[in-house]
Amino acid sequence: MDLKKVKLGILGGGAMGEAIIRGIIKARVFSSSQITVSDITAQRLKYLKDSYKIKTCSDNKKLVTDSSVIIIAVKPQVLPAVMKECAAATDKTKLFLSIAAGVKTDTVAALLSGNCRVIRAMPNTAALVLESATALCSGPGATSQDLEAAEKIFTALGKTVLVDEKLMDAVTGLSGSGPAYVFLFLEALIDAGVKVGLTRTVASELASQTIYGAATLVKETQESATRLKEQVTSPGGTTISGLHVLEKGGFKGLVMDAVEAATQRSKELGK
Ligand SMILES: NC(=O)c1ccc[n+]([C@@H]2O[C@H](COP(=O)([O-])OP(=O)(O)OC[C@H]3O[C@@H](n4cnc5c(N)ncnc54)[C@H](OP(=O)(O)O)[C@@H]3O)[C@@H](O)[C@H]2O)c1
Repeated sequence: MDLKKVKLGILGGGAMGEAIIRGIIKARVFSSSQITVSDITAQRLKYLKDSYKIKTCSDNKKLVTDSSVIIIAVKPQVLPAVMKECAAATDKTKLFLSIAAGVKTDTVAALLSGNCRVIRAMPNTAALVLESATALCSGPGATSQDLEAAEKIFTALGKTVLVDEKLMDAVTGLSGSGPAYVFLFLEALIDAGVKVGLTRTVASELASQTIYGAATLVKETQESATRLKEQVTSPGGTTISGLHVLEKGGFKGLVMDAVEAATQRSKELGK
C-alpha cells in the first residue's frame, strides 16, 4: 500500500485520536492534507483543525466514504453504534484499524457487515508522548501489506510488535495496564525518598529520572534486565540489601500475579 496515496480517516478525535494525528504528522507518515477526523464535539474538531491543519467532519459515515484507511479511536462503548452508522459506506477496499480496547476484530467486521479489512492495535497511554508500546494483530480480510501499513502508522507512536489476536489479552495485562504499575512503583519510590529525608520535589525528580534512565539503558544497550541488575549489585553493597527486601516481600511474584490478573480481567471483559 502506498501510504502517500492513502486518505486517512480517524473516527474519534479524543486523547488517542490526537496522539495518532500528532505522531503520524511528526514522523511524516502522512501529510496533514491526507487526514480527516470526525468527532461528536464541534469544539474538539475546531481545536484539531486549528492545531494540525487537518480536515474535520461531523458525519462518521461520510468520513468512511471519503477514506481508504480508517482508524477507529472511539470508546468501546460507543463503537457498535458508530460501526453501524458506517456499515453502509464500507467495502473491501477499505482498511479499518481499531484501537478499541478489548474489542475483537471479528466483532468489528460483523458490525460492518463483514464488508471490510480489519486490523487491531493495542497501544498504551504513552502514545500521548509518542512512546507507546503497541501490539498489532491481523483480522478478517487483512493482507500482509495492510499489516505493514499499520506497522508504519503505529511505529510513529512508539514501538510495535506483531502478535496473534489470542494474545491481545496478555498484551493488555502487560503493556496496556503496564504504565499504571510503573506509576505505582514511581509513587512508592517518591514516598520512600520522603521517608529517608528527601523533599518531595527532589524525591520526585530523582525517582522519575531513575525509571526513565533505567528504561533507556535497557533500550540503548539491548542488555537483559538481569545482566544490568547484576552490574549494579556489588558484593555486600547497598543495592543487594535493597533487592533482598524486595525479594523477601515477593516483589517479582506480585508483579507476575498483577499481569496475570489484568490478563484474566481482559478475557472476562471481552466475552
Ligand atoms: N487512552 C489510552 O491509554 C488507550 C490505550 C489503548 C487503547 N485505547 C482505546 O482508544 C480508544 C479511544 O480512547 P481515548 O482515551 O482517546 O478516548 P476519548 O479521549 O474519550 O476519545 C474518544 C473521542 O470520540 C468522541 N466520540 C464519542 N462518540 C462519538 C461518535 N459517535 N462519533 C465520533 N466521535 C465520538 C469522544 O467525544 P466525547 O468526549 O465528547 O464523548 C472523544 O472525543 C478507546 O477505544 C480505547 O479503548 C486507549
